[in-house]
Amino acid sequence: MIGPIDPPTRLLMGPGPINADPRVLRAMSAQLVGQYDPWMTATMNETMELYREVFGTRNEQTFLVDGTSRAGIEAALVSLLEPGDRVLVPVFGRFGHLLVEIAERCRAEVHTIEVPWGEVFPAEQVEDAVRRVRPKVLAVVQGDTSTTMCQPLADLGEICRRHDVLLYCDATASLGGNEFEMDAWGLDVATAGLQKCLGGPSGSAPISVSDRAADVINARKHVEAGIRSDDDVDHGERIASNYLDLAQVMDYWGPRRLNHHTEATTMLYGARECARLLVEEGLAAAVERHALHGRAMLEGVQGLGLRVFGDVDHKMHNVVAVEIPDGVDGDRTRGVLLEEFGIEIGTSFGPLHGKVWRIGTMGYNARTDAVLTTLAALEQVLRTTGGVTAAQEVYAS
Ligand SMILES: Cc1ncc(COP(=O)(O)O)c(C=O)c1O
Repeated sequence: MIGPIDPPTRLLMGPGPINADPRVLRAMSAQLVGQYDPWMTATMNETMELYREVFGTRNEQTFLVDGTSRAGIEAALVSLLEPGDRVLVPVFGRFGHLLVEIAERCRAEVHTIEVPWGEVFPAEQVEDAVRRVRPKVLAVVQGDTSTTMCQPLADLGEICRRHDVLLYCDATASLGGNEFEMDAWGLDVATAGLQKCLGGPSGSAPISVSDRAADVINARKHVEAGIRSDDDVDHGERIASNYLDLAQVMDYWGPRRLNHHTEATTMLYGARECARLLVEEGLAAAVERHALHGRAMLEGVQGLGLRVFGDVDHKMHNVVAVEIPDGVDGDRTRGVLLEEFGIEIGTSFGPLHGKVWRIGTMGYNARTDAVLTTLAALEQVLRTTGGVTAAQEVYAS
């Protein structure tokens, strides 16, 4: 007989997922309610209101896409981009490449600019490219978890307004732990996930859509046969995905409550509690907390004699990339941390794979005890797998 779920105790100090806040887990154990029950629709409205505060927006269209963060990204891009539309993607890590890949699948005409991993873009470089490409959408990641860099966005919003471009941002890794001002910065669509600074599990993608982006999306609305009314007229090029069709999903979350998917109720409970935690703490205080524990981790690893990767002035608060020293087996170190200390840290992708460890301090784990425990364990493991092991190998050969 296969037993009940009984996961090992782990301290998740990688780039996400991190341990969920116990309050979120408790909220997720609540009983289901029918999707058009007045309590449920009121709870959906509360969730929208909470996420307006989290994103720093008054956008009416602020809700959840059911699925992991990537579902939010796909929903945004497939709903905004028609085949042949030009999109500009500044790529500064793995998740910029993901935006390119998704935009290509929307059959958009994709243009990129790149900086080396570990850097961000100066606003002038983005504006030059916007002038040259004249895209419909500028799609950018705020915090690219693969490199830990955090792209400044305030100027990009201004540039997009000036050139009449829609600005989409993937804030999955950064929201809640780094400053984010959707309206003040002039963003049109932003998406996120719960498993980083929001302190929840992956599986729900909060999204916010400006009025002008909602108009662009609604100009492509095709309501499904079987639920459409006589007033529903097809507009424009039909959005290529049904599940991620934001025109229909907005009608599901809006006053019309037009049936689309069955809301993932348990994820909604979790997402609502994640937002409640942040709003209760205060967004500015939460960002401060991430800055404090991020700095403690950064100075802690430097204190162990390790070097930090990339432009530290543009690093996200909530994750640090640590260069793996010569002579140290990075995967073995991670293995010992996990097996003997129950602590998970990450490696990275592409050009950084095997070259850096990524250590997160986010959400529920942006805490003094989590930082100190991780540093103490790393110090101990490096003592046994680092210099001493390298020296032992010399003697053994
Ligand atoms: C910046 C960024 N975007 C997108 C994703 C994809 O998120 P998910 O795995 O929840 O689909 C991640 C995951 O780490 C991320 O860090």
